[in-house]
Amino acid sequence: MEEKIKELRAQIDEMTCKATRMEELKDIRFKFLSKSGSIPALMKQLGSVPKEERPAVGKLINEFKTWATELFDEQEKLFAQKALQLRYAAEAVDVTMPAKKHKAGHMHPVTLVRNELIDAFTGMGFTVFEGPEIEDDFHNFTALNVSADHPARDRQDTFYITDDILLRTQTSTGQIRAMETLKPPFKIVSPGRVFRCDDDGTHAPMFHQMEGMVIDKNLSLCDLQGLLDTLAKTVFDKDTKTRFRPSYFPFTEPSVEVDVTCCECHGKGCSLCKGTGWIEILGAGVMNRNVIKNCGLDPDEWTGLAFGTGLDRVAMLKYGVNNIHLLYDGDVRILDQFRK
Ligand code: PHE
Repeated sequence: MEEKIKELRAQIDEMTCKATRMEELKDIRFKFLSKSGSIPALMKQLGSVPKEERPAVGKLINEFKTWATELFDEQEKLFAQKALQLRYAAEAVDVTMPAKKHKAGHMHPVTLVRNELIDAFTGMGFTVFEGPEIEDDFHNFTALNVSADHPARDRQDTFYITDDILLRTQTSTGQIRAMETLKPPFKIVSPGRVFRCDDDGTHAPMFHQMEGMVIDKNLSLCDLQGLLDTLAKTVFDKDTKTRFRPSYFPFTEPSVEVDVTCCECHGKGCSLCKGTGWIEILGAGVMNRNVIKNCGLDPDEWTGLAFGTGLDRVAMLKYGVNNIHLLYDGDVRILDQFRK
């Protein structure tokens, strides 16, 4: 029996030495200590040992069993510690390492200009009123006093979907939609995308405008001057001056085009303003009586002012962008320069 114990002890020693994983260790423990294992088997053989030797042999077997149990316990503890150390090493965080830089996005230059204007005008009691991009002929032309043979209806300018449905060519559609929806008096700005069949360095088939309109009693061109002066000073700097030039729009009478002092040379004359010191930024006027009538309001009771500016054009002037396509090519190297 002693021989047998020695042999098993050697086996256990060798096997535990070789074990590299916890599962192996558990298998070895099972092989020797489980009910059907080698050590309980020794106990079963105790019956065949002569009676007088039995207590001593029994003691030996028990001591062997205790030795094996302690060995496995100890080894398992070591393995568990080692596994924990490995996990700690793998999960270690170097708190002194510099953090990864996450580049935050920012507003597009056209959005910056739009938001600045919305801020300025909502500060003066205007509300934002947005109309649909897909419009019908009535809202884009007829109601705006654009006669059937007006060149603005030419298919070269307008993207038609059907004879009657089109992509709006101007946010002036907002004037009509607002008068149909809101109860006068009111003041709105209507920013949005507009579409025209036009594509060169300063024109893109999709661009942005912002319409502004006021419906109230006894409005005149003088009231418009104050509003547009605020607009110019908001987008450019506080010293920017505005001037009105007579113009023509079917939906305003009188109509004006509004120039601001050149944002580059401040009026001295440079290549941007072609030496004139002035740059045109918007169209405006007192609303034509026909337009007010077309929307069901009495033009003897209500008067209106309207203006419309190209947000892309203003952004280009403000940020010195010389090609409108640079705004839409999606090149972050360009757009990143307008981080505010
Ligand atoms: N809708 C005109 C354009 O696109 C601009 C404008 C708006 C003119 C309002 C007068 C009044 O050119």
